[in-house]
Amino acid sequence: MPTPEIRQVEDAEQLSTAAAEECSRIMRVAIGRQGRCTFVLSGGSTPRRLYELLAAPPQRDQIDWTRVDLFWGDERAVPPDHKDSNFRMANEALLQPLSIPATRIHRMPAERADRDRAAADYQAEIARVFDVPADGVPPAFDLVLLGLGPDGHTASLFPRTAALNETRRWVVPNHVPQLGTDRLTMTRVILNRAACIMFLVAGADKAAALAEVLEGPAESERLPAQLIRPETGRLVWLMDGAAAARLKTSTGTVVSYAQ
Ligand code: 6PG
Repeated sequence: MPTPEIRQVEDAEQLSTAAAEECSRIMRVAIGRQGRCTFVLSGGSTPRRLYELLAAPPQRDQIDWTRVDLFWGDERAVPPDHKDSNFRMANEALLQPLSIPATRIHRMPAERADRDRAAADYQAEIARVFDVPADGVPPAFDLVLLGLGPDGHTASLFPRTAALNETRRWVVPNHVPQLGTDRLTMTRVILNRAACIMFLVAGADKAAALAEVLEGPAESERLPAQLIRPETGRLVWLMDGAAAARLKTSTGTVVSYAQ
């Protein structure tokens, strides 16, 4: 895995601004190089401001959004208009303001009762977009956004849940006993193939988990974000001062990412 890039900014607004500038640059390069960008959105609350900035000048006008394929790294088992839906948040902040074409929106259907089938169908959708076999080597997304939970989870890869041990499927259902909920989530099998994975971490409630993930021993069952180790792509950790407060090393240097 290439050396992680650790970048600290002052506060959550600067985090969103820095993320928007970097995401915009990555998308423009991908579109220039291959005619499109495949972009995996994160859920939760942190990325909402980033999505709003991407949907507003100047970023909005610097990207040909008709060439961006949007996916989700995970989704809650709720309808797409539910208040907890990751799709709904992105739809309000990004998809509708930019009038993203429906053909470019690849929603994760986690509301379906048969979540195994839904996961397999989403994997088939990913394979179709990349024009690769759905049972072959996972394709490489150009950009994957991820968040970090206070418990060290990312996407819907929660501590000590079954999805952590998946070694074959790109997308799986995952029951989260800690929350008493069910999710669909991409697994490390496909996430780690990405050309760039960007973690957005803001707030003091993430400081302990962030320090353990970046500087603590390898304990991925307890800290699933440690599973995210791109094979050849960039790993970017963008954090605000509050989230970085417990880091021992000054950011910008290479921390010993758990081996
Ligand atoms: C989800 C996300 C999840 C999120 C973290 C951080 O569906 O909840 O995919 O992994 O990124 O829980 O969430 P916040 O940004 O709300 O702190």
